[in-house]
Amino acid sequence: MCKKVALLGAAGGIGQSLALLLKLNLPAKSELSLYDISPVTPGIAVDLSHIPTDVKVTGFAGEDPTDALKDADVVVISAGVARKPGMTRADLFNTNATIVYNLVEKAAKVCPKACIAIITNPVNTIIPIAAEVLKKAGVYDKNKLFGVTTLDVIRAHTFVAEAKNVNVKYVRVPVIGGHSGTTILPLLSQATVNGLKLEFTQEQIEQLTHRIQNAGTEVVEAKAGGGSATLSMAQAGAEFALGLVRGLVGEDVIRYAYVDNTNGETSPAFFAYPIRLGAEGLKEVLPIGKLSDFEKKQVEDLIPILNEEIELGQKFNKDA
Ligand code: LMR
Repeated sequence: MCKKVALLGAAGGIGQSLALLLKLNLPAKSELSLYDISPVTPGIAVDLSHIPTDVKVTGFAGEDPTDALKDADVVVISAGVARKPGMTRADLFNTNATIVYNLVEKAAKVCPKACIAIITNPVNTIIPIAAEVLKKAGVYDKNKLFGVTTLDVIRAHTFVAEAKNVNVKYVRVPVIGGHSGTTILPLLSQATVNGLKLEFTQEQIEQLTHRIQNAGTEVVEAKAGGGSATLSMAQAGAEFALGLVRGLVGEDVIRYAYVDNTNGETSPAFFAYPIRLGAEGLKEVLPIGKLSDFEKKQVEDLIPILNEEIELGQKFNKDA
């Protein structure tokens, strides 16, 4: 069962690295179609096609992503502008909302059954916009729309491994909530190495939580005007997209993602949970487990922020 992944925004900083990771890691006989407004996109596909893996790559440029979207099982959207120092993810809203709106509108027409994974910021607001576009087109399936929050999870693994001086390969840290500032909530009370619970002082918990929540800004400031995370985000996007494809072909895969919260444990309409992926996309939202008092308070505080960001997306009017 070969699957086709369409990557929209493929010529950008995240897109090019993500395309490479997908070319290297998608299962044999998969197809990867690249789309970007930039005229260099078909060339990127030719460049990648010289790498000897059994993944067919095609590239399309211009205003219309239709050719790239034909028969896609998974659509990954990384198109959009990135932050500069001093900006929050929310400052990207005006530009990125319209870009994603138009791309999702096309996907709804060309590949209405595809799973759509969105990297473009502000994720907390953009996913509700995408849901509205899909509803308007009459093709919304809440199990097929995902905001990619994997970068928060891999950052949590990295920073916890560093702080506890343990092998990062065996570290697991759940991260729930959303993908901006204090809506990113690492559950350090459930962090493990090799299945064994990790212990932290309250000071460590506060420092690590703050670092994970501000890691995107750490990169934006380090790049000093040159954009935001591209390489780590590409790795995160690849982990999520490959997980989706593995789920579609019948494997049991667990990931974290920002999804429609109809079946969730908290009140916002969208929330990042641990999820089980399967043949139809999201198969099951998994429990978030027991929270510490510190984490319960963080959830309480993040809910109004998330609700406001979600509402902004739900009310978005492209033509206003
Ligand atoms: C990140 O977490 O690095 C991305 O969402 C990009 C950003 O603007 O922080």
